[in-house]
Amino acid sequence: MVYQVYLRSFADSNGDGIGDLPGLRSRLPYLAWLGVDALWINPHYPSGGADGGYDIVDYRAVDPEYGDVSDLEDLVADARRLGLRVVLDVVPNHTSDRHPWFQAALADPDCPEAARYHFSPPSDEPPNNWQSLFGGPAWSRTPDGRWYLHLFAPEQPDLNWRDPAVAADFEQTLRFWLDRGISGFRVDVAYGLFKDAGLRDNPGAYSPTLFGHGPEQAMTWNQPEVHDVWRRWRGICDEYPDTMLVGEVCLADLEQVALYSRPDEMHQSFSFRLLKSSWDTAAFADAVRSALDVFGGVGAPVSWVLGNHDKDRQVTRFGGGAVGTTRARAAALLMLALPGSPYVYAGDELGLPQATVPDAVKRDPIFHRSGGARAGRDGCRVPMPWNDSPGVGFSPEESAHPWLPVPEGWDRYAVSAQARDGGSMLTMYRRALALRAAHPSLGSGEATVSTQDSVLTVRCTGTAETVRCVVNMGSETVLVGAPGAVLLASTTRVRGSLGSVALPPDSAVWILED
Ligand code: NOJ
Ligand code: CA
Repeated sequence: MVYQVYLRSFADSNGDGIGDLPGLRSRLPYLAWLGVDALWINPHYPSGGADGGYDIVDYRAVDPEYGDVSDLEDLVADARRLGLRVVLDVVPNHTSDRHPWFQAALADPDCPEAARYHFSPPSDEPPNNWQSLFGGPAWSRTPDGRWYLHLFAPEQPDLNWRDPAVAADFEQTLRFWLDRGISGFRVDVAYGLFKDAGLRDNPGAYSPTLFGHGPEQAMTWNQPEVHDVWRRWRGICDEYPDTMLVGEVCLADLEQVALYSRPDEMHQSFSFRLLKSSWDTAAFADAVRSALDVFGGVGAPVSWVLGNHDKDRQVTRFGGGAVGTTRARAAALLMLALPGSPYVYAGDELGLPQATVPDAVKRDPIFHRSGGARAGRDGCRVPMPWNDSPGVGFSPEESAHPWLPVPEGWDRYAVSAQARDGGSMLTMYRRALALRAAHPSLGSGEATVSTQDSVLTVRCTGTAETVRCVVNMGSETVLVGAPGAVLLASTTRVRGSLGSVALPPDSAVWILED
């Protein structure tokens, strides 16, 4: 299981209210105890701070707020001793507008650095109809009137990957970190590096509610040239044993997503279908089945995602409160049974709901650029609760002012309390991960998916055994014929007798078949 650490909100070592590398390092024993195999850390680089670190100023350094390169090396060394691997985020689609290249390009339109971005001469209208994913047009003006492209915030100018200097520089960046012992990269916006060579208009408008980009955005995303980048990056990783690349590929067509994880490209590309499915049997079954088929077709493991730093917390997505929590537990058991690589977002193992963050302190450019129409992502990025003290143990000093406010009552989700509670979400995750490690049919078996009414069943078969994960997504208790032993259930209300199990609404069970 890969555990996603939102560095800024994980653990603050020095009391400035900002999570940092030494803080994360001090919490590595927790991750080992939980049963994590690897951690992926959200961007740790010096950044302009316009998009949660995804606007990078220096790709070969650590933001002083988080520590320095030796802190990262210490983290990697400690992690390795505990059997944990460290994966970094890399952001090749765009830099910060404060990056030295963009600064040079602003000062001199004819400098070599200017060719590394998409500039267009001054004119009344922007060069095309492309939209920023964060709202508004994808073009802004420089002080001297030129247009430049930014598919995200204006502080995130898109790089021009048709300039070979860009590719060469990123290859050095990869080696810089790989030489420091990291185990790979999560690749941001991996589907976007190349744009249509003629920068032609897109046929249709972008919709944030779709599964991903489709033909309506054909000029901006998924240009065929991008695959050669992944082949080269794969070649570099192959020089470093046991390293991997996982790509963020937000395309509507899953077959296209899977092409990014062909044997000579990235090792994985995220499957976001579960993350984007509502609590619905057919939607979940389709998400699981299609991912198994399509990634299986290219020989790649499926990387399952139920939560990340871009989406509302699952407890909230699935209905909030007790219902949302019950469903999130069941969804977790489903994900952890499936063959492939599950990614767990920090705090999901605690059942954190989406936090209400006052508008006045929101940071997310999505909120600000949409004029408040879109709530933004701050609510899934608030500090981790470690204990039941008023500051929830995020900072060493209780008086520290966390960078985003800790919600009222957050202590009830704290690690310390849940670790002692046999019925907690955290205990369930830990048991599930231990069973997953002990039963090869879980996590690496052959899975077959079936549904009956509102019940979803996945049979996971390994060489020696079959484990059945049954999820009741309906509103009535169902009786599941269960010749076998219950390994784990998402709720204590599961009752079994005489070869059958009564599975309450919104719950899941793992059954080791006889
Ligand atoms: C995807 C990242 O997950 C998200 O947080 C970020 O805003 C965009 N890429 C732009 O880098
Ligand atoms: Ca700190």
